[in-house]
Amino acid sequence: MKIAVIGAGKIGEAVARCIASSSIAESVMITKRNPSTLKLVDRKIRVISDNAEAAAKADVLIIAVKPGDAGHALAGVAEHTSGKTVISLMAAIKISRLQSVLPGSRIVRAMPNIAATIGESMTAYSMGEGFSAAEAKRATDVMSTFGECIEVKESLMDAITALSGSGPAYIAIIIDAMVSAGLKVGIPRDVAFRLVAKTLTGTANLLSSHPMHPAELRDAVTTPAGTTIAGIYELEKGSVRTSIMNAVDAATDAARKVAASFDSEPDP
Ligand SMILES: NC(=O)c1ccc[n+]([C@@H]2O[C@H](COP(=O)([O-])OP(=O)(O)OC[C@H]3O[C@@H](n4cnc5c(N)ncnc54)[C@H](OP(=O)(O)O)[C@@H]3O)[C@@H](O)[C@H]2O)c1
Repeated sequence: MKIAVIGAGKIGEAVARCIASSSIAESVMITKRNPSTLKLVDRKIRVISDNAEAAAKADVLIIAVKPGDAGHALAGVAEHTSGKTVISLMAAIKISRLQSVLPGSRIVRAMPNIAATIGESMTAYSMGEGFSAAEAKRATDVMSTFGECIEVKESLMDAITALSGSGPAYIAIIIDAMVSAGLKVGIPRDVAFRLVAKTLTGTANLLSSHPMHPAELRDAVTTPAGTTIAGIYELEKGSVRTSIMNAVDAATDAARKVAASFDSEPDP
């Protein structure tokens, strides 16, 4: 399978590398308006500046430009996408809109996250109409190269953009805060970082591999009048849960506003 990634930015480059290092792709092309600014060094990835050329040669296209650049990027590939699978990683732009600009193509709207850089993305996706079982499998095979994927209703996509698309930024802030907390109680920064990062991935892996409510895990490590409850008491005073819920709520509103602004624009 030949795959073209239109838009060699942070997420485009990450997914292109994942696909190139998997066995599913015969070749990977990646495009950028200005390829000279790209430092990507990977023998299997061909960097080109012509979107139409990449689209004509590809079996599957991945659109990874900013939503504001979608008009130009999609217009450049539209002639060559009929009958092909197009996976859009763009926030805010609906399947119906992509379908009207790229008639005859099979559209997947996907929201990965930056953990795709190490093949650890959690990618939510919705499929448009017209997919055969083989085409649907091909699309999920491509997305599985950059991590796990889960099919969802398209109506959830703005909320998912806010939760797991933006999620790495929230987690980075939490890690930073915990490292600062470690410094405050006398732990060297490098040691604190290793402790915090592994505590975070270890806890997430534990909850994923032994499904239980997070509150059960919290209770299992919280002894009466112990150290953990002393810490939890202060965390709850800081309304950490409400802050996180408010953050995701605000990001969802922001994603919906961007989506509404695209809905009211004429087709590119
Ligand atoms: N970053 C994330 O964590 C993340 C996660 C999930 C989804 N997304 C989505 O992925 C998309 C890209 O985000 P990003 O963070 O990777 O942005 P980015 O780093 O700014 O990358 C966008 C790239 O698109 C290229 N580009 C723009 N117009 C183009 C065109 N007409 N033809 C070819 N290339 C073009 C730009 O390079 P030139 O200007 O040189 O062309 C740039 O390298 C967005 O729609 C975003 O919603 C991002």
